[in-house]
Amino acid sequence: MNSDLWSTRPSSQSDQARAERLRGILNHWGHAYYVLDKPEVSDAEYDRLFRELQQLERDFPDLLAPDSPTQRVGGAVLTGFKPVRHSVPMLSIRTVTDTQATGAIGFDQEIRKKLGKPSHQPDQEPLENSDEVEYVAELKFDGLALSLRYLDGVLLQAATRGDGETGEDVTENARKIAEIPLRLIGRHPSMLQVRGEVYLRHDKLAAINRRQREQGMPEFVNPRNTAAGTIRQLDSSIVGERQLSFFAYSLAEIPARENGEPMFDTHWQALEALRNWGFVVCSYARRARGAGELVRFHEQIARERGSLPFDIDGVVYKVNRFDLQKQLGFRSREPHWAVAHKFAPEEQPTVVLDIDIQVGRTGKLTPVAKLEPIQVGGVTVSNATAHNDDETRCKDVRIGDTVIVRRAGDVIPEIVRVDLEKRPLDVALPFDLCARLSGQCPICRSAIVREEGEVDYRCTGGLFCGAQRKQAILHYAQRRALDIDKLGERLVDQLVERGVVRVLSDVYRLGLRAQAERLNLPMEEMFARVTCEEQRELALGVLKDLDRMAALSARNVLDAIENSKQTTLPRFLFGLGIRHVGEATAKELARHFGQLDAIMDAPVEQLLKVSDIGPIVAQSVRIFFEQAHNREVVAQLRACGVHWDEGAPAPSARLALAGRTLVLTGALPTLSRDQAKDLIEAAGGKVAGSVSRKTSFVVAGAEAGSKLDKAREIGIPVLDEAGLKELLDGRS
Ligand code: IVH
Repeated sequence: MNSDLWSTRPSSQSDQARAERLRGILNHWGHAYYVLDKPEVSDAEYDRLFRELQQLERDFPDLLAPDSPTQRVGGAVLTGFKPVRHSVPMLSIRTVTDTQATGAIGFDQEIRKKLGKPSHQPDQEPLENSDEVEYVAELKFDGLALSLRYLDGVLLQAATRGDGETGEDVTENARKIAEIPLRLIGRHPSMLQVRGEVYLRHDKLAAINRRQREQGMPEFVNPRNTAAGTIRQLDSSIVGERQLSFFAYSLAEIPARENGEPMFDTHWQALEALRNWGFVVCSYARRARGAGELVRFHEQIARERGSLPFDIDGVVYKVNRFDLQKQLGFRSREPHWAVAHKFAPEEQPTVVLDIDIQVGRTGKLTPVAKLEPIQVGGVTVSNATAHNDDETRCKDVRIGDTVIVRRAGDVIPEIVRVDLEKRPLDVALPFDLCARLSGQCPICRSAIVREEGEVDYRCTGGLFCGAQRKQAILHYAQRRALDIDKLGERLVDQLVERGVVRVLSDVYRLGLRAQAERLNLPMEEMFARVTCEEQRELALGVLKDLDRMAALSARNVLDAIENSKQTTLPRFLFGLGIRHVGEATAKELARHFGQLDAIMDAPVEQLLKVSDIGPIVAQSVRIFFEQAHNREVVAQLRACGVHWDEGAPAPSARLALAGRTLVLTGALPTLSRDQAKDLIEAAGGKVAGSVSRKTSFVVAGAEAGSKLDKAREIGIPVLDEAGLKELLDGRS
């Protein structure tokens, strides 16, 4: 019998019904096994039905459905991941710096204040239970965020977080994660976006590393990086083998009931629904009333974290009620209603073998202690910073000293203090960065300076300095900037060290510099003379010359560089590495001005009108674009073809309240709080919950309270409703 004939024969209704039934049973058993940890049948029974379904799908490919459990095994090899724009941005969580109980107390106080509740210290009289704010306390999983879209209960798309706005489509890989339901259980809204964390359990990492060792392959260092690398695997069958896990922790949007009302009032209800739909919600999540219960949760997890089967990075507190979350709002993608609270870092003693000095992107010189390798928090540490020379001196770290090293999360380990009792008699003299360097940068020999009021020494070499050049290129190429992922540290090291890349734009004309030097021509003239094809050949030649670079990867590098030319204004601005201009600021600048030239020429007063930009940032932008060599860098990059869609300045720049922050207090005669807020926001203004020197106006109504007093105290103009309306109309 010709099997092709078979495979094109359409399935009958009974085949369809059987396949549907098999999918239902197998998904149910899978959920019982992987999610509930309560197997209902033997493996043999599961396998029998699984094979039956596989056979049916092979015979009748039209029966293959995206929620079929057969999609969890095997898999295709992709060539890349498609970008996915998140319809609701993926937020991040602010971390409180204080790792003690006071971190939780401070957060609760902040929330109480923002909600207009009287302040309260936990050591005072206990509050009426009903006056405490209710939170949900959760673990902060150390994996990576995933957004899952379900349509009519079937997993449609999985995307990584990316920059919060655009991630990558990893649907095929997500299907291989047993704890991600392919089909939801029970009644569910027709559209649903679930957010959660993909992570790797310790025992699974150990098993992977065992296999790696057996195959003579390098081992993976930590669960988070392994999980992150796995979810971005092009070969999805590998994802299945690695056995990643998934915790659901929120919904991107609260679905509405048929009557239009929101389906849930609280985060807790959403978590319960997620569990009922078949997700794993971490069993540590709990409701906590007031600061006292947050503190207890933090203490409990601090005690137990060592015995958890996976890594965590602290705990998270979220205000439970959605209406309060809405009222609290967010800033720069960090909600005011949630916070991450970490644990006091682990500390260990070790010996300083030497002190090196590193040069950062902005030329900052940082002493780095070379340490006798030591295990801190499960990781081997052999370098630690003392942040700046002042600190080294005040901590007086010397070669030969025994120091206490601490590692908090993923940050570079740091020296907490010197154990003076262990200081050997023949210890070195106090470390003096400037003397040690004889006043010169260790990389480029330019003078080092310490600006007034600054603690750090800096190299004055700018992009002349190889170290700064490398960092500047890596900054430019990073994912959140121009996203040239093939331009990694090793390659940049070689390109800079061999003089192939001296200025940023050389990245787009690899090989041209050497050619120009051979022909004794200025770079710009050389650039004008070669065709694109010749330029590509030159670049390929240069790349293939580098050790271990194969022709194929050389081509990949060039393609990545080429693709980066089409970019966006915020990415480009961020990539320039202007001091104090992070991603969020770059976005605000781009939104406000719309066009690069407008930003480059904007005086400080105009820059100050951009929301969230203060004098330090404005000054820094101004200084950057005043330098002829920086303008030259921009011009060269543009000449090399780097481009973006320039927009019009955001309408908010011309709106009556653009850049203004208002605070509302008391009851206004005709406008409700929400109406006033909507009007202000529609006019480009912002409404803040408390009065500070940054407040532009306080709008006060009847029975205005302490906010009005504060405004008067620090001299913030106060308006009534009529005054607000005048402002809105642009009349004052
Ligand atoms: S909620 C506020 N809950 O932390 C809404 N995130 O900085 C943000 N994360 O990339 C997400 N555990 O992957 C939330 N229990 C938890 C979390 C959690 C870990 C990660 C998340 C995100 C980052 C936010």
